[in-house]
Amino acid sequence: MSGNRTFTMIKPEAVAKGYAGKILDHIISGGFKVIAMRYTKLSLQQAMDFYSVHKERGFYTELVEYMSESPIVVIALEKENAVADFRTLVGATDPNESNEGTIRKRFAESKAKNAIHGSDSDENAAIEIKFHFSDNEIFA
Ligand code: RTP
Ligand code: MG
Repeated sequence: MSGNRTFTMIKPEAVAKGYAGKILDHIISGGFKVIAMRYTKLSLQQAMDFYSVHKERGFYTELVEYMSESPIVVIALEKENAVADFRTLVGATDPNESNEGTIRKRFAESKAKNAIHGSDSDENAAIEIKFHFSDNEIFA
């Protein structure tokens, strides 16, 4: 059975360009309920820890430097079938391959600076929510 929670980050360049409000509106209009949210900035070490699954990939250094360069918005979300439905709403990693109407099609500038993160499994959604929020910050 699929779970009902996922985790997202509005990434640095999208926040810097002033897109956070429009992206949040897109997410809520897509049927997701915000259960926790924070405006924050990752240290380089936090970005390295968050993305440790990608540490062997060629883009890892570029990714963690980018994700720690300026503030982000971290959000835990609830909806039936949350992980898969959110990835559909977000669109493909590369905005050139994202469907019309997806968040990345609207707001991403490149495959690397792609506006938003979405958990890729129920297991990782739970890990990522725990990484950013304590139980008393979640209002489900
Ligand atoms: P995310 O984890 O951020 O939701 O993105 P995703 O599942 O669509 O993509 P993933 O393969 O998990 O990659 C994580 C993030 O790394 C950056 N990336 N850059 N330069 C590149 O070729 C490249 N490939 C990936 C993107 O920021 C991507 O979202
Ligand atoms: Mg991913």
